[in-house]
Amino acid sequence: MFRVRPMFESAEEASRFFAHQALRTSAIRRELYRRAGIQRMKSILDAGCGTGEITSQLREITTANVTGVDIEEIFIKCARSNYGGVDFRCSDCASLPYEDCCFDMVTFHFFLMWAQKPSRVIGELLRVLKRGGVLLACAEPDYGGIIEYPENREFRKAEEEALRARGADTKIGRKLGFLLREAGLSVNQGVFASVIEGRQLVEDLRFMKDFYLRDFTQIMDEKRARTLIEKEIKIAARGKVMVTPPFFGRSQERIRRNGTLLIFAGYKVMRFWLS
Ligand SMILES: C[S@@+](CC[C@H](N)C(=O)[O-])C[C@H]1O[C@@H](n2cnc3c(N)ncnc32)[C@H](O)[C@@H]1O
Repeated sequence: MFRVRPMFESAEEASRFFAHQALRTSAIRRELYRRAGIQRMKSILDAGCGTGEITSQLREITTANVTGVDIEEIFIKCARSNYGGVDFRCSDCASLPYEDCCFDMVTFHFFLMWAQKPSRVIGELLRVLKRGGVLLACAEPDYGGIIEYPENREFRKAEEEALRARGADTKIGRKLGFLLREAGLSVNQGVFASVIEGRQLVEDLRFMKDFYLRDFTQIMDEKRARTLIEKEIKIAARGKVMVTPPFFGRSQERIRRNGTLLIFAGYKVMRFWLS
């Protein structure tokens, strides 16, 4: 009855959304890039780079050659016109046009949840990563672990269902370590809680309103979708708190290959961790 709708109406709109999303993880990513030794790196791949917001930030903080790869041609065109100094390439990350062992770091952000064959993608990313290189997985969320008060289960259920209707794996966060271990990596992971509440949550929901509407109308009629979103904004305005428990992990070795692996899975920054 309802149809799967494209998430974005244009690449420019996607770019605004990705920039908003990138802001939430910017502080923690910078810290993780530093710990990964980004200053020593000569070549970095941003896999599933979308319209290039994360890729361009990587470019700003390093002298390395930075490459962004995405499967969507219109995203790559938009990235090329918005950000200079980066090699943007349109390709499926399950089959990359690069030789073995050519990147010092391979990173991704909100990517694996959208990859249709995550194991194959991880295998391919490891193929192009140099021995001793760093794989840094950023911001793979887990919608099954959200803590909120006051609760709005109907909204959370719709959010997850709508994402799944588009093909997203909404529980990729908890699977990340397992998938990487299956790929032959030694992985330590932890949960990295983040809090968003009050005015910040209301502002976030207002920004996301049209995206939610587009998402929800894949699985329900527009009137119900609007009611659900307005109700969530009202609850947020009363001082709602949302805690997302993303995963954080690090490994210094690979089981079958030499190298370093850092994982940061999650999508918001735990404030007191950074202060
Ligand atoms: C949520 S977006 C994240 C974009 C970017 N990493 C960011 O955080 O701003 C996920 C991206 O993964 C891309 N993608 C999904 N599957 C892919 C694949 N197999 N190979 C390359 N890109 C892929 C999508 O086109 C989309 O741009």
